[in-house]
Amino acid sequence: MSETFGRAIIVGASSGIGKAIALELGAKKAKLVLLARRSDALEQVAQEVRAAGGDATVMVHDVRDRGEAGARFDAAVEALGGLDLLVYASGILERVREGEFDAEKDGRMLEVNLLGAVAWGDAAGALFQAQRRGTLMNISSVAGVRGRRGNPVYGASKAGLTAYTEALRNRLSRYGVNVVTVKPGYVDTPMTAGQKGLFWVISAQDAARRSLSIAARGGSPDAFVPARWGLVAAIIKMIPSVVFRRLNF
Ligand SMILES: NC(=O)c1ccc[n+]([C@@H]2O[C@H](COP(=O)([O-])OP(=O)(O)OC[C@H]3O[C@@H](n4cnc5c(N)ncnc54)[C@H](OP(=O)(O)O)[C@@H]3O)[C@@H](O)[C@H]2O)c1
Repeated sequence: MSETFGRAIIVGASSGIGKAIALELGAKKAKLVLLARRSDALEQVAQEVRAAGGDATVMVHDVRDRGEAGARFDAAVEALGGLDLLVYASGILERVREGEFDAEKDGRMLEVNLLGAVAWGDAAGALFQAQRRGTLMNISSVAGVRGRRGNPVYGASKAGLTAYTEALRNRLSRYGVNVVTVKPGYVDTPMTAGQKGLFWVISAQDAARRSLSIAARGGSPDAFVPARWGLVAAIIKMIPSVVFRRLNF
C-alpha cells in the first residue's frame, strides 16, 4: 500500500525537520496547514511552499495551550477540506547542566514534546478512526531508547512519545490508519546548532525525505532515521544498567 499526502497538517513547521517536511510536500503540490508559535517564520515557510507549487495556510499555535488543539485541528481540517496526514514535529531540547534539577525546564519539555503530541494525536486519531484512513506521523528520537543521565526528561518525553504512538498504532491500524513513529539520530537543525560531539549528522531535508518515504509505504512503521541508528539502539538496549549508569552517554 502506498499513501499519498495531498492534504496535511504540520505542527512545528516553522523550522528544522517540520519545515523541511512542509517544503517536500509543497514540492509535490500538497495543500498544507502549518502551525507553530512564530508567525514570521511560518509565513516564510508558507511562501516557499507556494513558490514550490503547493498551497499553505498558517496558524499560530503554542502546543502548550492544549485546550486549543481540538478547535485548531477542526479548523485546519475544514480549511484543507479533509485530511490525509498529520505530522507532529514540535519539540524542544532544553540544555541541562551536570547536577541540575529544574522542574520548570523539565515540565516544558514534557508539555511540548509529549503532552502537545497527545492533544494533536487524540484529535487526529478520532478523525482517522471515523474515516478509516489517514496517516499520523510523530517525530520521536533515538534519545527515547534508554534513560540517559545527560538530559533525563528530554529522553523521557521521547520514550513517552514512542510508547504513546505505539499504542495509537495498536488501536488504529485495525481501522486502516497508518501510525508512524520516526526516530531520527542527529539532524542539522536549530535544535542541534552548536552541540559538540555529534556524529552521523544528516540534513533536515534528508530527514524529511526519509521520514515521508517511510510513512508513504504504509503499514504503520516504527523506524530509525537513518536505519543505521537501529543498530546503535539495539546495542544501547543490551548494556546492563550497572554499566550504563557509568557511561557519559
Ligand atoms: N535535530 C535533531 O537532531 C533531532 C533528532 C531526533 C529528534 N528530533 C526531534 O525532531 C523534532 C523537530 O526538531 P528540529 O530538530 O527540527 O528542531 P527545531 O528546528 O528547533 O524545530 C522545532 C519546532 O518545534 C516548534 N515548537 C517549539 N516549541 C513549540 C511550542 N511551544 N508550540 C508550538 N511549536 C513549538 C518550533 O516552532 P516555534 O518555535 O515557532 O514555536 C519549531 O517549528 C523535535 O521533536 C525533536 O525532538 C530532532
